[in-house]
Amino acid sequence: MTTPVYSPGLEGVIAGETAVSTVESGLNYRGYGVGELTEYCSFDEVAYLLLHGELPNAAQLQQFHARVAAARQLPAPLMGLFAALPQSTLPLDALRTAVSVLGHFDPEAADSSHDANLRKAERLLAQIPVAIAAHHRVVKGQPVVPARQDLGHAANFLYMLRGSEAAPADVKALDVSLTLYAEHEYNASTFAARVIVSTLSDLHSGVTGAIGALKGPLHGGANEKVMDILLAAGGPENAEVWVRSALARKERIMGFGHRVYKAGDVRAGILKKYARGAADTAGTQKWEEAADIIERVMAAEKNMYPNLDWPAGRLYHAMKLEIPLYTPIFAMARIAGWAAHVVEQLDNNRLIRPRGLYKGPAARNVVPLARRS
Ligand code: ACO
Repeated sequence: MTTPVYSPGLEGVIAGETAVSTVESGLNYRGYGVGELTEYCSFDEVAYLLLHGELPNAAQLQQFHARVAAARQLPAPLMGLFAALPQSTLPLDALRTAVSVLGHFDPEAADSSHDANLRKAERLLAQIPVAIAAHHRVVKGQPVVPARQDLGHAANFLYMLRGSEAAPADVKALDVSLTLYAEHEYNASTFAARVIVSTLSDLHSGVTGAIGALKGPLHGGANEKVMDILLAAGGPENAEVWVRSALARKERIMGFGHRVYKAGDVRAGILKKYARGAADTAGTQKWEEAADIIERVMAAEKNMYPNLDWPAGRLYHAMKLEIPLYTPIFAMARIAGWAAHVVEQLDNNRLIRPRGLYKGPAARNVVPLARRS
């Protein structure tokens, strides 16, 4: 046996091979830089790229769109379950449950062949936004809005959520954020999905586990905490005092720092202008001003820079989306990356089973119960 290497939190560890994306010299998906993808492609094209390996031509995109649009519906028992869940159920928890339930109804749930996995992935890509919007409206006592077949991923989601068509600027901003959230190599939730399916489990199990991993505030849950932080800071007048005292209390400022990007996250820079544009439209520039002040303090005091969640939280807030929907929106994008990794893992599988560094008591003998003090 080779000498085990231990890196806390698996920092710097190469845990497997992938052709889906790389964070070496800027983030790119299957060779394309995310900056160009947000500029020239819709999220729908990016999802196709991640799942199928190449950007679609016009006919392939049209067929993909038709397949996804046709799958934008939920089994009736899931709608009943949404109504039966406690009112306090968090949207991300409801989504995690929904994906698990969808596995029961998928006709190919147990088929983990390459082609079946891609078909299931396209169905989940279609169903996840429907589930988020339907649960949201059921909780509010509003009628569920059926999906539109003619709209892309971002536009259809906003339509189902609000019951009316969104402005093109809102659709573009959400679409860009979805592209930036779509994939990120061996991040915690993707790794969780790969671990799960490496046991030869199935796609729905992997995605259910991935959503559980995404929930935590050190990962996807951070985009919701970003707005909590800005609201707690109260605005530009108080932002500097607030962040300095939070740092003095050794609190983490959510939306800053990254395990891999130590000098800044390229995605945050791309989304910032959309957050700013949405704030200009909504008249909520004060949160952008407060964000600038917090960024300056974090750079000066901690040498720490924003990650994608920092502008994403602000963008969604300016778009008047409710805070508990932010992490589900992350999931609605990342399903493309999760599924691409699940397919890749199962195409060339080896069980993921690392070792633990034992820190417990030395070997000892059991004392029978009658003689234990
Ligand atoms: N604010 C203040 N201090 C921080 C922050 C932060 N956002 N992030 C890290 N630190 C500090 C830690 O307290 C720690 O300090 P210490 O050594 O004095 O104890 C030190 O920096 C190292 O922290 P680690 O957690 O070991 O660093 P790591 O590289 O593992 O952390 C992580 C990466 C988890 C993202 C971290 O920066 C963090 O908690 N950020 C806030 C949460 C967040 O924004 N998550 C989103 C990630 S990106 C995404 O999901 C799209």
